[in-house]
Amino acid sequence: MNINTRLLHDYPVVDPHTGAASIPKYQTSTFNQECVFDGQEYTYTRFKNPTVHALDEGLKMLADAKYALSFASGMAAISTSLMLLEKGDHIILPIEVYGGTYQFTCQILTHYGIEVSYIDMADLQNVERAIKDNTRMIYIETPSNPLLKITDIKCVVNIAQHHDILTIADNTFMTTLYQNPLHLGVDISVESLTKFINGHSDVTGGFIATNNEDIYNRLCLLQKNFGGILGVEEAWLVLRGMKTMGIRMERSVKNAQAIAEFLDCHPNVQKVYYPGLVSHRDFEIHQGQASSGGAVLSFELKSKKAVDKVTKALQIPIIAVSLGGVESIVSYPCTMSHACLSPEERLSQGVTDNLLRLSCGIEDTEDLLQDFDQALRQL
Ligand SMILES: Cc1ncc(COP(=O)(O)O)c(C=O)c1O
Repeated sequence: MNINTRLLHDYPVVDPHTGAASIPKYQTSTFNQECVFDGQEYTYTRFKNPTVHALDEGLKMLADAKYALSFASGMAAISTSLMLLEKGDHIILPIEVYGGTYQFTCQILTHYGIEVSYIDMADLQNVERAIKDNTRMIYIETPSNPLLKITDIKCVVNIAQHHDILTIADNTFMTTLYQNPLHLGVDISVESLTKFINGHSDVTGGFIATNNEDIYNRLCLLQKNFGGILGVEEAWLVLRGMKTMGIRMERSVKNAQAIAEFLDCHPNVQKVYYPGLVSHRDFEIHQGQASSGGAVLSFELKSKKAVDKVTKALQIPIIAVSLGGVESIVSYPCTMSHACLSPEERLSQGVTDNLLRLSCGIEDTEDLLQDFDQALRQL
């Protein structure tokens, strides 16, 4: 079966108890027990719920993994996975790691005696150099946010395996439809469900996938006790959103490619960052590990004033934090995703005041192109 068929049929999409063609919302916190001496599958929703379990089965299929576990947000999935670390351990992360992961690691993990290093992972020598005797985890995020820098996943995995270090990858930007970290040897894949998988900007969620039973069992224990489970309503919405993920993403990627090419030739655009462009510095590496350029791109205008004019002139995209919705979303990293960094830190990462990020939705390509054309003509 191919992916669009699998997203509709290749996991329990029919309710085993009633035959309902849409898994019902088992909106209950607890379950009646026939006999207090016998165990039963469902006892308490924080431990296991049929709607959430159906989603976990779907996510397992999507990630082609032995185990998958959904969480209340992408950050719940990420922070819970990072709690696999113990006092005295050391973790290496990319300097451009997602802001929430950055805050969690530098402001919270360090309080538990965990050492943290941030490096430019595009240069693999930096990975080797950062490894210490107590390094237990290497964290990958590719493409990076917002400059779409690429990390060679297989090369990082090879280095990590050589030193017996666990790898974890945030795969939110590409999703497993286009890039599967587990296939590339990564131990734990994490993704925000808030973005492309649910895809309708109406749910917050996250998930982890792994093929390692021991890691899965430890994550289940952490989840059960931290309590960051996905709600029943949200699980149901993600189950629905996931069914159309393949065709939604196909259109979004097509739009991103067309807009990136359009912006790349535009005289009012200084620079375009999109790994689907042949001119991207790491086009070859990205093509080797992913099957599309994805639906997110960034571009730099010539001034802050131009940013103001263009964001006000655009008619179709919403201007907002987030990505991965059916509607196109323009974000301004400076005051949004990267607001917690100082101007100097932002600049050192290449996030200038003139940078905009675009997450392409599923609108008609022609309409989006016309909208960007008219907005850029205002300059
Ligand atoms: C790359 C990446 N990882 C993780 C997250 C966190 O996801 P959530 O907002 O669902 O917690 C985000 C959110 O924007 C993200 O962009």
